[in-house]
Amino acid sequence: MSRSQHTNTAAVPEREQWTGQVGFILSAIGSAVGLGNIWRFPGVAYESGGGAFLIPYLVALITAGIPILFLDYAIGHRFRGSAPLALRRLGGKLGESVGWFQVAIAALIAIYYTGVLAWAASYFVFAFDERWGSDTTTFFVADYLQVAGEPATFDFVPGVLIPLVLMWIIALVIMGAGVVKGVQRANIVIIPLLIVTFLVLVIRALFLPGALEGLNEFFSPDFAALTDPGVWIAAYGQVFFSLSIAFGIMITYASYRRRRSNMTGAGFVVAFGNSSFEILAGIGVFSTLGFFAYQQGVTVGDLDGLAGVGLAFMTFPAIVSEIPGGAWVGVLFFGTLTLAGLTSLISILEVVIAAIRDKFGLTRGQAVGGIAILALISILLLGTTSGLTALDTIDQWTNNIGIVASAIVMTVIVIWVKGRGGELAKHLNAVSTFRVGKLWIFFAGLLAPAVLTYILVAKIVELVTNGYEGYDAWYLGVAGWGSIVVALAAAIILPLITWRHDPDKFEAWPTNEQLRVKGGAR
Ligand code: ALA
Repeated sequence: MSRSQHTNTAAVPEREQWTGQVGFILSAIGSAVGLGNIWRFPGVAYESGGGAFLIPYLVALITAGIPILFLDYAIGHRFRGSAPLALRRLGGKLGESVGWFQVAIAALIAIYYTGVLAWAASYFVFAFDERWGSDTTTFFVADYLQVAGEPATFDFVPGVLIPLVLMWIIALVIMGAGVVKGVQRANIVIIPLLIVTFLVLVIRALFLPGALEGLNEFFSPDFAALTDPGVWIAAYGQVFFSLSIAFGIMITYASYRRRRSNMTGAGFVVAFGNSSFEILAGIGVFSTLGFFAYQQGVTVGDLDGLAGVGLAFMTFPAIVSEIPGGAWVGVLFFGTLTLAGLTSLISILEVVIAAIRDKFGLTRGQAVGGIAILALISILLLGTTSGLTALDTIDQWTNNIGIVASAIVMTVIVIWVKGRGGELAKHLNAVSTFRVGKLWIFFAGLLAPAVLTYILVAKIVELVTNGYEGYDAWYLGVAGWGSIVVALAAAIILPLITWRHDPDKFEAWPTNEQLRVKGGAR
């Protein structure tokens, strides 16, 4: 759209700003540390051979996770906008398309993420009297979720529906209060609390009998497993989801930073904080698994039900019941899961809110009202007896196809098609303590997209050939591939709509002229 075609040629209004480095870092850690760390990581690590997982995980973190985190930061900070606005300023309509694809992926994730959060909140309450009883699997599947044989039903389950609605209300109230009074304040209160409860939990777990055997399982590297591409695919997927990169979050959060902000320094703190949480979660969970195996007189490798949702909602409650006076461990665990998930959910929702505000010139209140539609879809899909299937399917496609594809396209367009890698490196260097240069461009622009393309193709082939979890093909077509089609439709259609304010009336800071003097990529 040329500038003359805009009905309103005023510049996009100034954005809200974090009050400082601490507010930003806590909010970015709040976003990164979430269900991905506590619910997903230990299960993925276990499925990928325990100790075998740590090496690919660290490689993925260093070669793709941190470089793309910096890329998100650089784009959001330099072009000061939500994903579609910042990428539009960087790369025209093509960039804007990538931004909307990311917004759509974030919206889809929000739909199911709130569901897991609702389960965690229910289990927080159940933990007080260990309501799951002795058969935790039957309790979760049949009594709590009331899972139906059909993949798509509209039979509501009040026990899930009520916490789900509650979680949406809490999240929307926080979002309505704004970046500083809502998002930042929630993180400043929740993150320190989270760190304390989490440490208490991990230390308790370490003193359980059998904990050492569990830790051995987690820390013994199995070099043979490194030849399995599946382990690498899982590691990259985990790092992207967990660091909240390549689906708009870090671009949006960086856009609220002041001009003079140490971006790479903060990035290292966030990445280190997130991985520490993840590895601590691994230590805590594997210690408890060691205890569980010890109780049953088997090895950790012989245990079942440790992958996916099973670990947190079926196995963990069973373990809690075995620990003498374990109810408080359950209360802390599910309380931690709920709080960690909430601070991530608000960052996911902010991606959508910021994008529609920038595009349509909405007030925050109007945008929050607008995303109530996501709440409605989430309630219809996840508050029913088929919620588990919907969650599992959308999670699989959005993470393994959506986020990975988004990372590939973003890096290729930004660094190759638009050739902006050098400018972004200079931008980071002009404001940050840790300088980036050619190595960063090599990782973000070449190695990461090459590895991710391999991973994406392998995953598509696997899903097309084998389907997923034995679910009906028509269902996977609608909920799985359909999710990707929705994101593609957003990427194609939304750039055709005129901006309320002129997105191009903007000057990047520092200007290219100033960068020539200050920056200089190494
Ligand atoms: N980064 C968030 C998580 O790990 C989305 O759950």
